[in-house]
Amino acid sequence: MEESALHVRVDTPSGSAGQRENLPSRSEGIYENADAGQTLELHTAGHTPSGAPNVKKFYRVPAICLGLLCVLLLVRVITLILPYTKGNSECKSHMDSTQTIIYNLTKEMDQLQTSNRNLAVEQEQLQKKLGDMAKLDDLHRKFQAQQGWVYYSGSFYYISSLKKTWLESRADCQNRGADLMIINSREEQNFVSGFKKILWIGLSDGQTEGVWKWVDGTPLTTSFWRSGEPNSYEGSNEDCTEINGLNSGKNWNDLKCQNKNYWICEKTFAL
Ligand code: BGC
Ligand code: CA
Repeated sequence: MEESALHVRVDTPSGSAGQRENLPSRSEGIYENADAGQTLELHTAGHTPSGAPNVKKFYRVPAICLGLLCVLLLVRVITLILPYTKGNSECKSHMDSTQTIIYNLTKEMDQLQTSNRNLAVEQEQLQKKLGDMAKLDDLHRKFQAQQGWVYYSGSFYYISSLKKTWLESRADCQNRGADLMIINSREEQNFVSGFKKILWIGLSDGQTEGVWKWVDGTPLTTSFWRSGEPNSYEGSNEDCTEINGLNSGKNWNDLKCQNKNYWICEKTFAL
């Protein structure tokens, strides 16, 4: 069927109902195709006059088009909603991963804070050590400035230029804030032997004969007695100790404390 613009005019019957009853069945309006000059008649009786196109058939195409349009609209609505629904789930997963990141970052921050605290403690300890070292260095310089003192392996040593008894020698060391030397190791023994002098050291058995003690009260553990010493020579009371002899391996001798010798003082600084 050829479609074109249709102009439809419906004539409403005039007059009263009674008047209309008297009217014979006739055409109610005229449908006129303006372009084609085709005229259609609608009859109130509901039947199509012979030779006129069927009205139902006439509306079928627009109805189908309308139906298709509805389907298209529905499809469009669905395609619009779907991404939104998908977007929602994406948003939720994004939130989950964000929460995980926040959790991990918080955890990392806690760990960093802990390590920061540990580092602060460590820094404090290092600063203290640095302070101690500076203090020691200062003392070192002060002692080096004093005549006669020598620094060796954590201690300062003073060798007298006079000779005195063991007790007088000890008193002199004490006046200097030190005491007679205590030998604790082979290294220290070698160090003192290096001066090649006869010197009083801080070892005696004046309290109990035969029990040798250092001036700080500690017992003798490592000794370097010359061969045959200590001997309390010929029955004399040799209660004090001197470094005597070139053999640095074994050069200690017990001697009468009243004898006069050079002496060596030692001062160790506790930090
Ligand atoms: C002895 C020592 C002793 C010293 C006393 C040396 O000849 O070997 O043991 O102490 O004389 O002067
Ligand atoms: Ca002796």
